[in-house]
Amino acid sequence: MKKIPKHSEARPRGLDQMSPKEIVAALDRYVVGQKAAKKAVAIAVRNRIRRQKLDEEMAEEVAPKNIIMIGSTGVGKTEIAKRLARMANSPFMKVEATKFTEVGYVGRDVESMVRDLAEIAVDMVRAEKILEIEEKAERNAEERLLDVLLAAAPGTPVDDKNLESGKDLQRIEEMREKLRKQLRNGRLDNRLIEIDVREHALPPVSFQVFEGPGMEEFQFNIRDMISGMIDGKAKKRRMPVSEAVDYIMQEEEQKLIDMDMVVRTAMNLVEQSGIIFLDEIDKIAGRESGHGPDVSREGVQRDILPIVEGTNVITRYGMIRTDHILFIAAGAFHSTKPTDLIPELQGRFPVRVELNPLGEEEFVRILQEPKNALIRQYTALLATEGLRLRFTADGIREIARLACQVNENTENIGARRLHTIVEALLEDISFEGKQRRIKYVRINAEYVRKKLGSIARDKDLSRYIL
Ligand SMILES: Nc1ncnc2c1ncn2[C@@H]1O[C@H](COP(=O)(O)OP(=O)(O)OP(=O)(O)O)[C@@H](O)[C@H]1O
Ligand SMILES: [Mg+2]
Repeated sequence: MKKIPKHSEARPRGLDQMSPKEIVAALDRYVVGQKAAKKAVAIAVRNRIRRQKLDEEMAEEVAPKNIIMIGSTGVGKTEIAKRLARMANSPFMKVEATKFTEVGYVGRDVESMVRDLAEIAVDMVRAEKILEIEEKAERNAEERLLDVLLAAAPGTPVDDKNLESGKDLQRIEEMREKLRKQLRNGRLDNRLIEIDVREHALPPVSFQVFEGPGMEEFQFNIRDMISGMIDGKAKKRRMPVSEAVDYIMQEEEQKLIDMDMVVRTAMNLVEQSGIIFLDEIDKIAGRESGHGPDVSREGVQRDILPIVEGTNVITRYGMIRTDHILFIAAGAFHSTKPTDLIPELQGRFPVRVELNPLGEEEFVRILQEPKNALIRQYTALLATEGLRLRFTADGIREIARLACQVNENTENIGARRLHTIVEALLEDISFEGKQRRIKYVRINAEYVRKKLGSIARDKDLSRYIL
């Protein structure tokens, strides 16, 4: 039996190293309430680290506890996933399940999500490695530039055989240091030098034409082929030092980075701690074989099943086993229920958490507590034009109350309602901006009522405006 490889190198502290409590606390900074969902996510992530500590045989048996988050629109499902992704030092990808049912879908085969995850992981690990070697690459690049500059400088024999005395050596050394100083000061930025340039792989955009079933593999093969052909040739090119720095830095980085190691670490990360967030899962639930473009709903579920159950997916970096990738699915499940998913799929998502509908109390907190809270955003935005906004406690409560009222009277769109309400509330102020005579605006309950009260009371009006 294959031994579960441990990450070969020390990696920055990521999700997998955090305790469930720490993960919840980190989520708390952005998402109000929804304790159950946060807890479930935190436990699932933590269980994987626990699993890696088991002996191989047992570890093989432990399947990830995939999660379905159920909650109506605008209550924080995607927000939780988004925040998790930012924290994650695990490769993380969000994908809409409906993407695979879309009209014209022929080829975005579901396996592409694993391939995309592999790309994300490789980029991630490469970026980490670049940080580690950056300083060294910079030093090497500087020396190489100095070699070129020195060789171009008049009367400096750089070939060893031309060196006759220690005096020469000393002279060159002095010159080198002088150049180094000038280089660092940017005084040589515009000097033209000639360096060897290797062309790099063509931008992937030029290959988009190949979209289609199984085409991704085809795509990367061609890409590798062409970039391989071009990689071999080096051309001499003249360019200013400021530009040459970039080329040389890139080359030095590539020399110092062990891509094999990067790929191995990345693939291992995907298999052991990758997370795929499957949004809008409710939209592919339902077993009826409908008509038109929707026919493939059950088909998509069947396609997804093997990946969630564990299969091998070929990527351009090699084979990836999906057995231990964590899947977090989310959906509003208004017109469908989780039980409308095919049974096999249900079984692979043993953890169900419901997100609570949001009410006035939550809105009061959402308006001001998260680090990216709406009120902070608008206050900061208008401050750039010298306006000072101050929201009083009763003003905030009034906004929350109105949001609830409109949600009840029209459609419940959760916390998204706050966006429309605050936008409407501040419309005039935002419009006047700098031109406003009075720079200090106090937004209390009375102000909110004056601006929005009549609209909120009128169902028809609020349907359009709020
Ligand atoms: N619990 C919450 N705490 C803080 N902000 C929230 C919360 N719920 C929603 N929001 C805010 O509302 C917006 C929409 O939330 P989100 O994208 O998470 O909705 P969703 O649950 O994924 O809905 P949908 O089913 O429509 O995809 C977010 O940008 C966020 O600002
Ligand atoms: Mg969402």
